[in-house]
Amino acid sequence: MANTKNKTINILFTAVEADPLIKVGGLGDVAYALPHALRLLPPDQTGGYQLDARLVLPCHAAIREKCKELNPIADFKVPLQDGIVSARAAMTEINGLPVYLISGPLIPMDSPVYSNDHHLDGIKFTFFSLACLELARQLNWRPDILHGNDWHTAIALYTLNERKQTDPFYQRTSSVITIHNLPFMGSGTEEELSMFGVKPSGDNRLPEWARFLPLPMALSAADYIIAVSPSYANELLTPEFGCGLENFLYQRKDRLLGIVNGIDMNIWNPATDSSIPVRYSINNLAQRQQNKAHLLSEVGLEPDLNTPLLIMIGRMDHQKGVDLAIDALKQISDLNWKAILLGKGDPQLEKATQQLETEMPNKVRAATRFDMPLARKMYAGGDMILMPSRYEPCGLAQMIAMRYGCVPIARSTGGLRDTILDIKTNPAQGTGFLFDAISSTELADTIRQAIEAYSNPETWLAIQKRCMAQDFSWHRSAIQYAQIYRKLYEK
Ligand code: GLC
Repeated sequence: MANTKNKTINILFTAVEADPLIKVGGLGDVAYALPHALRLLPPDQTGGYQLDARLVLPCHAAIREKCKELNPIADFKVPLQDGIVSARAAMTEINGLPVYLISGPLIPMDSPVYSNDHHLDGIKFTFFSLACLELARQLNWRPDILHGNDWHTAIALYTLNERKQTDPFYQRTSSVITIHNLPFMGSGTEEELSMFGVKPSGDNRLPEWARFLPLPMALSAADYIIAVSPSYANELLTPEFGCGLENFLYQRKDRLLGIVNGIDMNIWNPATDSSIPVRYSINNLAQRQQNKAHLLSEVGLEPDLNTPLLIMIGRMDHQKGVDLAIDALKQISDLNWKAILLGKGDPQLEKATQQLETEMPNKVRAATRFDMPLARKMYAGGDMILMPSRYEPCGLAQMIAMRYGCVPIARSTGGLRDTILDIKTNPAQGTGFLFDAISSTELADTIRQAIEAYSNPETWLAIQKRCMAQDFSWHRSAIQYAQIYRKLYEK
């Protein structure tokens, strides 16, 4: 395609968290890593295009504290139903990725990224979404693609479609939305949408209850809908995971696809990770045992290196199956293992993990907090990671764990199913242990199988090596996103 030489596709990537400026969950990893990886794609891998991806974020209090010197680059207004409200944009960059930060009176300086208050979040995120559209115009930087993530930025895509009818600036802009977690649709924000003059969707393919909900509104407006794994994309078409939108999504099936997230292979690298006591690679895995010894003594467990060490890392949510893990561990209390559970979240689940530690003080440690350095030591010293998620759009911990030679035991759902090859069905190639039902008994049985495999050092070493040899780089995912952008750009 000679005529596409040196052409640039402008991508305005909108999200409400991005590592390292602010990270609450997996979205934060993606919102930095994906646009960053897009910028790095060489034109010979994108059909001749340079991808100018730029990220825009709300300037949360935590970001303001981190970035002491922020230079404002634009002051502008965002329209309300009755009136206007002011907005300011500043600019910074993360490793070459340009980042715009939006502030204004409707982005409060005393609240976390997500509050439990629908109204507060409704106002903040609708304001932010509309400000993203205004910002591009202020900069006279015309996006070819507006890329939204989850419900928080959905209204930008929805409003884009309305504006397109009359506004030449946006006439050529297409939109893509990534679904990281469908159940969070932005419910309870109708009043706030009205406050900004946003009207319900007229798309009668949407169920009536969904027509004034941000995420479904964007799912109707977007040119492409991306789920964060192919299996999750399929699951979204079923009543079990579709949250009542399965029929609607089925009608948009030709515009729905799944692209698995990646991990940053430099940030997550046991050969260079400065948080772990002993660095290692696939070629000197024996060193890894020292990390296990350090870890066990750090958390106050007997440093018995031949006992399998199970770990669990992440938000303590019902979604993640923390309750299933606790039950399963109780069922196999007669076996020889140790476990460390790290994460914050639902107070009841936090309490239940602490109780497990009280019941099994020689086996279990519960760290109910967010602790990145400990997480890294767990990836580097744990033998198996438990991920019994009820649903898992993509999941990042299993990929990080594999990179560190820690073998996943996971439920076969969403991204877990797409990134882990089951050892039971593929003994020679498998990279983990999968089970099907949402059941602590099945999980317990699967842990038993893993412990059995662990008892043969040669088998185990081979599994670990296969895990570590996987390519989870963002590069692969970015190429797939680039294909979608290109299709839209050339249409
Ligand atoms: C959400 C999903 C998780 C996914 C992440 C990033 O947190 O629950 O599965 O990995 O988004 O897409």
